[in-house]
Amino acid sequence: MSAGHVIVTGGASGIGLATVRRLLAAGRVVSVLDANAEAIATAAGELTGERCRFTRADVRDEAEVGDALDDAVAQQGAIVGLVNSAGIGRDVPFAETSATLFREIIEINLVGTFIVSQAVVARMGEDGGAIVHIASVSGLRGNVGRVGYGASKGGIVNMTQVMAAELGARNIRVNGVAPGPIDTPLVKAMHDPEIRAIWQRHVPQARYGTPEEVAEAICFLLSDAASYVNGHVLAVDGGFLAAGIMRQEN
Ligand SMILES: NC(=O)c1ccc[n+]([C@@H]2O[C@H](COP(=O)([O-])OP(=O)(O)OC[C@H]3O[C@@H](n4cnc5c(N)ncnc54)[C@H](O)[C@@H]3O)[C@@H](O)[C@H]2O)c1
Repeated sequence: MSAGHVIVTGGASGIGLATVRRLLAAGRVVSVLDANAEAIATAAGELTGERCRFTRADVRDEAEVGDALDDAVAQQGAIVGLVNSAGIGRDVPFAETSATLFREIIEINLVGTFIVSQAVVARMGEDGGAIVHIASVSGLRGNVGRVGYGASKGGIVNMTQVMAAELGARNIRVNGVAPGPIDTPLVKAMHDPEIRAIWQRHVPQARYGTPEEVAEAICFLLSDAASYVNGHVLAVDGGFLAAGIMRQEN
């Protein structure tokens, strides 16, 4: 794992929090931006120290994000990495999805990822760095109930490619991960036992993934071990995207 200061949005919970733990264990300096004050208080109780700071900021708010990043640079030095894990999930059929809900999901997941990425790139030095977006298998396949969520994640897949194409010459690599079903607070709130059984039937490894398994892939893409990996979206999905027909008992 390389050295330096990494920003993690949504780092107070789930995949973001597992990534923060993994980065700190590897000796990185981390600044977390998250909108949830309660989750921040819990995570900060465990992790705040010399190398980890938590700031309440909403990724939709350009001024709040800019101030939080300026403060992070002043306190912990130049930024060399960004993980965009802040996001919300909703499972609502197409016909029942209001334009208000559709806009809210796009605004947090897609526009928020754009706002933070642009603000971080503006603050990266000549040495550049690495950015990892969190997409989803629902941004690469038409999963029912994901019209807003899937559109936001499909947008992130394309944004990964455009950013990689534009920023490669500045020594900034941009990649994504596309998790399958991962046991996090977001999924615990969305998946009842029936939905869990359906997912498990469609995942060749027949189980949900852990936040730590996604964090490993994120940290690989952030690190110098991935120095020539750029514009790629890596599935961390137990084989979901690879599978065709599955046996009933799986
Ligand atoms: N859990 C899964 O199965 C799964 C699968 C595919 C993709 N993802 C994606 O992974 C990312 C992390 O999800 P998770 O499962 O860890 O969820 P989570 O709810 O545990 O964590 C998400 C964090 O983002 C923060 N957040 C939400 N809106 C925000 C905003 N406007 N500004 C700042 N912070 C905000 C929340 O406060 C929370 O701490 C999301 O982008 C999600 O879409 C998750």
